Amino acid sequence: MAPSRDMDNRTFHQDPTSLYNLPNDLPEHSRLDEQAKHVSTIMDHRILHAPLNPNKPNTRILDIGTGTGYVADTLALQNRSAQVYGLDLSPVPPRSGRTPNVHFVRGNISNQPPSKWTPLPDAETKTEFSDSSSDSGASNPDYTDSVGAGGPLFPRDEETFDLLFSRFLVAGISDWDAFIEKEYHLLKRGGWAEIHDLDATVYNAADEPISNRADWQVLPERAAEKAGLDFQCAWRAAERMRQAGFVDVVQKEYALPLGGEGERRPDMKAAGEFFAPTFAEVREMVIRRYVDAPERAEGMVRRMRETMMAPEAGRHYKLVVTYGRKP
Ligand SMILES: C[S@@+](CC[C@H](N)C(=O)[O-])C[C@H]1O[C@@H](n2cnc3c(N)ncnc32)[C@H](O)[C@@H]1O
Repeated sequence: MAPSRDMDNRTFHQDPTSLYNLPNDLPEHSRLDEQAKHVSTIMDHRILHAPLNPNKPNTRILDIGTGTGYVADTLALQNRSAQVYGLDLSPVPPRSGRTPNVHFVRGNISNQPPSKWTPLPDAETKTEFSDSSSDSGASNPDYTDSVGAGGPLFPRDEETFDLLFSRFLVAGISDWDAFIEKEYHLLKRGGWAEIHDLDATVYNAADEPISNRADWQVLPERAAEKAGLDFQCAWRAAERMRQAGFVDVVQKEYALPLGGEGERRPDMKAAGEFFAPTFAEVREMVIRRYVDAPERAEGMVRRMRETMMAPEAGRHYKLVVTYGRKP
């Protein structure tokens, strides 16, 4: 099926049940990969915060909303005895050098059980097979059997994974209570869920919010919330996890720099210089999607850019990490 296009010739996923409205094309994949490198910088090159024991036999990790598969690839590389799966609404672009223990599946976490996800054959996501000598793809009988035979990759719709990871799903989940309850059911006992998401309020160097009353933040967020999205999902994840039954819930925040002014470390300066314009572009898409009157949207975009791109040191979003264990 041909990907759906809008007038700017960008392409989008084709699941009519999902509100997710960012593109799934090459420019978006480049943005996601570049973003992933800068996120890694601000987290001191660490992705996982939960104390997963990857050496337990049959460890299975799922990266929900994997995008280009960057996190799935990294976790697969760091945990070679685990099987790592990346799930997305859209096909995952192929990459060379992927390890044999990483695989991709297509599906919607919100309304499809794992038995309905479609495995993407390795030949579509790996442009070359690396390391065929040791833990080859064939070492995961589930994967090769089901891809070959067309059977479900995950026959059980519960207690299947040891770790569920998700990052930047704020625009993709329209019922966070249900999402976190589903995570609880999908995890084996003792398994961990870890959520990384954004508080996309602009804070100043004194850590005071400076955009939370701006029309360009408030109005599109309210409209998106009416449609079911939750722009406070990053902070609310801890309470939702506890309500769903998770224990040992931990929350930690990172400052995500907007602009390179005042950053002393070159990698942090590069991160800030990347994040300010690219998040302004994402915000612009959100404003244009949720504000109907074009002139009004124009004014909001201008004011938003003035704040996001202002040459003042210390402006930042917050990136919030929350993890918890299923007892
Ligand atoms: C902003 S991107 C983040 C990608 C990746 N997690 C990262 O950090 O680079 C969000 C991804 O989640 C996917 N997504 C959104 N809603 C989803 C859903 N309900 N089920 C599966 N994937 C979803 C989108 O297709 C997109 O690739």
